[in-house]
Amino acid sequence: MRQKIVAGNWKMNNNAKETKQLIKGIKKSIKKLPLENTRVLVAPTFVNLAKAVKRVKKSNVEVVAQNMHQSKNGAFTGEISADMLQSIGISTVILGHSERRSVFGETAAVLQEKVTAAIQNNMEIIFCFGEMLEDRKSNNHFKVVENQLKNSIFHLEARDWEHVILAYEPVWAIGTGETASPEQAQEMHAFIRNLLKETYNNEVSENTSILYGGSVKPANAKEIFSKPDVDGGLIGGAALKSEDFTAIIKAI
Ligand code: 13P
Repeated sequence: MRQKIVAGNWKMNNNAKETKQLIKGIKKSIKKLPLENTRVLVAPTFVNLAKAVKRVKKSNVEVVAQNMHQSKNGAFTGEISADMLQSIGISTVILGHSERRSVFGETAAVLQEKVTAAIQNNMEIIFCFGEMLEDRKSNNHFKVVENQLKNSIFHLEARDWEHVILAYEPVWAIGTGETASPEQAQEMHAFIRNLLKETYNNEVSENTSILYGGSVKPANAKEIFSKPDVDGGLIGGAALKSEDFTAIIKAI
């Protein structure tokens, strides 16, 4: 059975003190929730990861990384390897976020290398992808999404997919306040699930969690999560306040 997942991508927000407070708030407010088959993930910035891992011990919260480099080690100033993450207790990493692609120039080829490196290092991946507004306007959104998956993650073997979570994040909905309608999300998620079936098999298709991301808030989470192929959310802005994040978790 595939898992339900609510993940908070904190992006470049929260210093050490704020990280401590936010984790404390989330832990407290989800303590009594019946989180059966539901995972709660938070992705603080690199410098706060090690402490965050310690702070979530004995709770239902898991700490994940926002990115990693594809190489084992070496002369890559400013970068972080899979081994470094593993060594502080992190075994899940977000890859392919649209901000990594558009602001930091990560290409499909680089992402393919990162995906391979993560799997080789026994990391779980939250792989992000999604079309731009012009792709949707020109009715190319399905093709764009298919190519993003084909070019960076469909090289994996079927057995690797138990370590993959997909996150469909239409770029036009990220941080804009504009959300894909529940129907638009469902339509794309069903398309992706079918691609998984065609490319791999029924098991991969049925067991892979597909999250939606893009302006998910307490007010719209329930409707989006109610769709059969939406298995949770990757939350940006609304993950920065424990009350909002908790309300979104409750909606799943
Ligand atoms: P917002 O929820 O702020 O739109 O961000 C979504 C996102 O990019 C999560 O990775």
